[in-house]
Amino acid sequence: MNWWQKKSVYQIYPKSFLDTAGNGTGDLRGVIKKLDYIKSLGAGAIWLTPIYDSPQVDNGYDIADYTSIDPRFGTMADFDELISEAKARDIKIVMDLVFNHTSDRHAWFKESKSSRNNPKADWYIWRDEKTNWRSIFGGSAWEWCEERQQYYLHTFATAQPDLNWANPEVRQALYDAANFWNKRGVGGFRIDAIVYIKKPSEFKDGIVDSDDGLSSIHNIIAATDGILDYLREFKEKVFDGRDIFTVAEANGVKPENLSEWVGDNGVFDMLFEFSHVNIMFSNGVEIWHRSNLYKLSEWKKALSDSQNATRESWYPIYFENHDRPRSVNTFFPAGSDKILAAKALATILFTLRGTPFIYQGEELGFENAKFNSIDDYDDISTRGNYDLARADGLSDKQAMKFVQKFSRDNARTPMQWDTSKNAGFTSGKAWLPVHDDFTACNVEIQEKNPDSVLNFYRKLSKLRNSSDVLISGEYEELYPENEELYIFTRKSGDKKFMTIVNFTTHEVEMPAQILKGGKKVMGNYSDEKNYLRATEATIYEF
Ligand code: GLC
Repeated sequence: MNWWQKKSVYQIYPKSFLDTAGNGTGDLRGVIKKLDYIKSLGAGAIWLTPIYDSPQVDNGYDIADYTSIDPRFGTMADFDELISEAKARDIKIVMDLVFNHTSDRHAWFKESKSSRNNPKADWYIWRDEKTNWRSIFGGSAWEWCEERQQYYLHTFATAQPDLNWANPEVRQALYDAANFWNKRGVGGFRIDAIVYIKKPSEFKDGIVDSDDGLSSIHNIIAATDGILDYLREFKEKVFDGRDIFTVAEANGVKPENLSEWVGDNGVFDMLFEFSHVNIMFSNGVEIWHRSNLYKLSEWKKALSDSQNATRESWYPIYFENHDRPRSVNTFFPAGSDKILAAKALATILFTLRGTPFIYQGEELGFENAKFNSIDDYDDISTRGNYDLARADGLSDKQAMKFVQKFSRDNARTPMQWDTSKNAGFTSGKAWLPVHDDFTACNVEIQEKNPDSVLNFYRKLSKLRNSSDVLISGEYEELYPENEELYIFTRKSGDKKFMTIVNFTTHEVEMPAQILKGGKKVMGNYSDEKNYLRATEATIYEF
């Protein structure tokens, strides 16, 4: 077992974590200040979303210089101090590599767009004609460039031009950038949007799927044949032979193809698939107003398929990140008690097989933001989804319903540390408003309450990190067709754990016999009954 299999990873969105400078955005010194807090959660690594120099069109995922620290977040000296202070606590720092695209302010792009024959002319995807592809954030995926008199491709925002991975010089420049961070002693990489790096050999129009006359780019370019050749080279040049881990974001890789992507014959250690988090969208295309209802059995199947497909490799367990709405509002029915629901999801997070990824605030049971107008949202994809809903004929009120449910800003509101002004996040004006529930839900209050979500996470983390069965035991799902309960076991030799979660808001009978010989280890209700109460989650040991 590797170190990153034995502990959890804590994901930080630095902009919203802790501001020590009073300018309203979080910074690296804020992360250093809270290292003991992160250690108390049992985390062995911190994944930082991008902290590189960036115009912040997509909050740092538009990078202008891969080997710099954005002054908003601090200096390279702060970063080095973070690495060493974290190391002193046995925590590694994991960087986010955004290699599908750069910012349009990156020196490479400035050069590339200046003419058709400069040394970097072929570093991005340039064409004389455009196709009808819709970018992931909405609108055409092509932007006209006056200077060069050509279109460039952007899978995401206009300010995020796609790099041309077919060019070996581009690939080498990216490997050099990643190795810059390897030399500084990082513990691994989260690799952004990797499924889009290889473009199809022919650029053709796709099937129009909305009233805007466009076709989702995701269906056209995700996981294009031959992508693994690039990724094998990436692995060899950057990851091989180092004590680091890699986890790649891979919307569109199916569980049946996982063995080519992860494990001994794969290219990464872990893959963030999307099957369980975007189960409400068909084909992985997140058009919010087209979300569908789904059954619990389908959600459980998504998780079980991934668990089964990674029996020989490893899986990153997650319900939240900076792109998803808060999990308590997403995976439990309306009317569920949110504290019980947060603990129930945590129970699954720490007892499935794989490395648990906790996203800041999840450990406190944070809920979705409550903004009333589209103008209150900062996130670029929220605007794109709203505009598409309006183009499809929805009223402002109807479109806002979906924005409030799915916006990425739901999970980007500042951390709630205490009951003071701005929840202790900043002494200035927070870049995104603090959730108005902060006086009731914050770290200070939850520290003091032995029954808080925070202390439940700590207990779960201790249980998982000290149990070989929970770390590596085999996964088996029971009663997969049951639409009320999620039940699974983890087994190793004659030892076994069982997790049972009631996803309804009513009492449910316990399936006969399954608990024979089992002893309750922990749960979100303190006592025990021979039936399950609303949102009840329990772990049994056999
Ligand atoms: C990934 C990131 C997301 C970003 C996008 C473009 O999906 O997680 O936040 O907007 O890539 O880089």
